[in-house]
Amino acid sequence: MDLFEYQARDVFEKHGVPVLAGEVATTPQQAREAAERVGAESGGVTVVKAQVKTGGRGKAGGVKVAKSVDEAEQHAEAILGMDIKGHTVHTVMIAQGAQIAEEYYFSILLDRANRSYLAMCSKEGGVDIETLAVERPEALAKVAVDPNVGIDEGKAREIVDAAGFEGQTADDIAPVLQRLWTVYHAEDATLVEVNPLVKTEDGQILALDGKVTLDANADFRQPDHAALEDQAETDPLEAAAKEKDLNYVKLDGNVGIIGNGAGLVMSTLDVVAYAGEQHGSKPANFLDIGGGASAEVMANGLHIILSDPQVKSVFVNVFGGITACDAVANGIVGALEKLGDEEDRPLVVRLDGNNVEEGRRILAEFGHPLVTIEETMDGAAAKAAELAAK
Ligand SMILES: Nc1ncnc2c1ncn2[C@@H]1O[C@H](COP(=O)(O)OP(=O)(O)OP(=O)(O)O)[C@@H](O)[C@H]1O
Ligand SMILES: [Mg+2]
Repeated sequence: MDLFEYQARDVFEKHGVPVLAGEVATTPQQAREAAERVGAESGGVTVVKAQVKTGGRGKAGGVKVAKSVDEAEQHAEAILGMDIKGHTVHTVMIAQGAQIAEEYYFSILLDRANRSYLAMCSKEGGVDIETLAVERPEALAKVAVDPNVGIDEGKAREIVDAAGFEGQTADDIAPVLQRLWTVYHAEDATLVEVNPLVKTEDGQILALDGKVTLDANADFRQPDHAALEDQAETDPLEAAAKEKDLNYVKLDGNVGIIGNGAGLVMSTLDVVAYAGEQHGSKPANFLDIGGGASAEVMANGLHIILSDPQVKSVFVNVFGGITACDAVANGIVGALEKLGDEEDRPLVVRLDGNNVEEGRRILAEFGHPLVTIEETMDGAAAKAAELAAK
């Protein structure tokens, strides 16, 4: 999960990274009031910043300096509702204005290829770092960080030296890098990027912008992270599925898909997309119900899929393994009994694997008028695609 800049600012502050005051606003009036408070200690100067999860906000006109509360209100008026690379600005942050002397770059990221972390640092920040990395790679220091040690005092020195910092500036930056490592480590992040990290006219080091990506695999030990999720961006069906612990992703098509195992579901999407070409049918979702396939899980899955009005048919594709096909068939029967009239669209079921004969017999005996049993995956995909187009 990527954080908004204002959330990154809060996380930085929590771990002692030096940041400036900042408040969010969703209306020009709120921006004005925020500017009154935030600008109090910076001679009335604030910066109005679009809060969108994409880079290049400044270039797009989404970062503007305001010298008065009137200006802050006007900038907020202009920036709210703006489209930046397909992201609509719903929120701005009113940040205290800094007197910048120099802009630097620092980031920590996951280096999968080397099974390690990588710190990157440059004296030339604020700019488009990707361009710098390509055109003048020598200006961007890259230092490997041992995951078992992290950025301790010695490593922080190594990084600032590699980037070419000297004297007082080097002494001042090193401890900030250690704090940013604490953010990375304590919050289970996969990216912490500060561009720009600045030195102010009076010699303070500050993180003026922050990008943080949190590792969702660590959600179980990060109870605070759920509150950082952007509810407005989450699809309501995906949110409902998540509450039921279902692995569901909404797509645009009309054929609902349920399968057991992520690999099987992925290939089911492919065969449905292929079979659907001649009918104009497409997969409506990804849903992996995992190994169990009990009546409850099956009913929850079908309920989510049938809540999508775009869905015109559903393809249930199950391979019986440890949970044999008869158990899965009983799960489907139980689910259909639970759902009753809610199940109002054709359902194509393909069962294969362990105890398949018994599974098919159970479904046939149940004899639901909307259920078709198909023997092969291709056959079932073709049937579901055809039914969806009707
Ligand atoms: N609080 C502030 N006070 C003074 N100047 C600021 C402040 N925040 C940002 N700036 C200036 O605006 C520039 C752009 O800001 P920022 O880095 O937050 O946005 P951006 O780089 O355009 O966005 P992104 O990082 O999403 O590409 C900074 O490099 C800095 O010069
Ligand atoms: Mg930036």
